[in-house]
Amino acid sequence: MTQAQLRRRDRGPRSTTDTSPHTVGRRPAGPLPRALRRLKARLMFTGWLQYLPTVAAGIVFLAVSAVGRLIGAWQAALFWLPFTVGVLLLAAAAFDVVTLKLGVRPGESVPRRREGLDAFDLMRSRRSCRSFQSRDLSGAHRAELMRVVGEYVRPDHLIGTGPIRLEYLAAPLTVWPTVGAHEFVVAIAPRDYDRMAVVDVGRSLQKVILHAGRMGVATCWIGPGADQASVVAQLGDRFDPDRDHVICVCAVGYRSRFKPLTVRAIERAQRRRLPLPSLFFTDPCGRQPLPADAPPFSSFGRCYEACRWSPSSFNSQTTRCVGVTDATGGTVRRFDFYASTTSRYYAPVALGIWCAHWETGCAALGIPGSFRVLTREERGAPDAPELPHYDVSWVTDPAYAIAA
Ligand SMILES: Cc1cc2nc3c(=O)[nH]c(=O)nc-3n(C[C@H](O)[C@H](O)[C@H](O)COP(=O)(O)O)c2cc1C
Repeated sequence: MTQAQLRRRDRGPRSTTDTSPHTVGRRPAGPLPRALRRLKARLMFTGWLQYLPTVAAGIVFLAVSAVGRLIGAWQAALFWLPFTVGVLLLAAAAFDVVTLKLGVRPGESVPRRREGLDAFDLMRSRRSCRSFQSRDLSGAHRAELMRVVGEYVRPDHLIGTGPIRLEYLAAPLTVWPTVGAHEFVVAIAPRDYDRMAVVDVGRSLQKVILHAGRMGVATCWIGPGADQASVVAQLGDRFDPDRDHVICVCAVGYRSRFKPLTVRAIERAQRRRLPLPSLFFTDPCGRQPLPADAPPFSSFGRCYEACRWSPSSFNSQTTRCVGVTDATGGTVRRFDFYASTTSRYYAPVALGIWCAHWETGCAALGIPGSFRVLTREERGAPDAPELPHYDVSWVTDPAYAIAA
C-alpha cells in the first residue's frame, strides 16, 4: 500500500468526493508499478520494509565505491568514503534485523513514572514511540490505563453526543512503521459519519495518551499505517460492522531503545512544527497572527506551545485557532478551533488532540472554561467560508474574565 493510498483512507468508508491532492492528475498505473506497489504493501505489513531502505542505501554506496575504484583517482573520496559508508549501513541493517526482527537483544527495564513533570513538560516531552519492548504492560499499568479510558469515554466527558469507544486489544496487529507493538487501544466511532464523535476520539484518546506518558507508558497513534481488516478481525464480536467504524489505533507499551535506522530517519523528518504565527490568529481568515506574548493572550502562557507540539497524522498540522476578545480587546472571550483541510477523519482527530492539550494547559494554569459548538451567528461570522472548517470553541468562564 502506497503513502498516497494510506492517506486516501482518510476519506473514510462512506465518502463520495475525493479531495486528496495526491490523486489529482494521476495516470492509471501500469502493471509494473501495480506489482511494485503490491510488493511494497507486502513488505510493509510483514514488517520487512523498515529494514530495506538501509540495505538499499548501503548497496548504492558500495556501487559508487566500485565505480570510484574503476576511475582510479581521488581514492579517498571516490572509493574509501562511499565504501566505508556502505559497509556501515549494511552493518546497521544487519544489527537492526537481528535485534528487532529476530528479537535477539538484551532485556530492557520498565521506564519510571514521571510524576514530577508539570503538565506542559509532559505534553512537550511526548513523542510517538515506534519501537516497543517485547514485554507486556504490567497488570497494574493495564488496569490504570483502562480505568482512565473508562473515564474519558463517558458521555459527560464528550463534546458531542455520538458515543465513542476505546477498546483494549492484545494482538500483533500489522502496523507501519512501528515495530514491536503488540498492545493497542482501538478508537471506535459510530459508522454513520459524526464529525464531533471523531473530534471526541482525538480529545479522549489524547487524554489517555497524556496519562500513559505520566505512567511511563509509551504510545503511538496509528491511523493510515494500520491494516483496518486485521484490526476488525482481531476485535471479533466487539466490532459491529453495522454500527461501528474504527477511526485509528494507538499502540501502547514500553519504549525500546532499539529502533530501525529507517524509523529513526522518519521520526527525524517529522520532528518539525509550524511556527506559532502560522497556527494562531485573531481573525478566521488567518491573516492576523495572534500576539501570544502580549496581554490579554499572554495569560494562556504555554498553552499555545502545548498545541503546537501535539501529534497529527503524517505531522500534517491541520489545526488552526482563532483567539477572540471582547470589543475593548482587553478580555479573552474564547478560542475557536478550525481544521485547515477538508479531511473528514484525521483533521478532526488532530483538532480533538489540540482540544485535549488546550484544556490540559488551561487546567494547569487554573483558567476555567469549556468547549461549545457555536453557530455562525454566535461567532459573528454569518458568511464564513467552508475552509478553514470551524469545529468547536473553548469559551472562557465569564467569572474568570471578570476576575482577570
Ligand atoms: C490521527 C493520527 C494518525 C497517525 N497515524 C500514524 C501512523 O499510521 N503511523 C505512524 O507511525 N505514526 C502515525 N501518527 C503519528 C504522527 O506521525 C506523529 O504524531 C507526527 O509525526 C509527529 O510526531 P510526534 O508524535 O513524535 O510529535 C499518527 C498521528 C495521528 C494524530
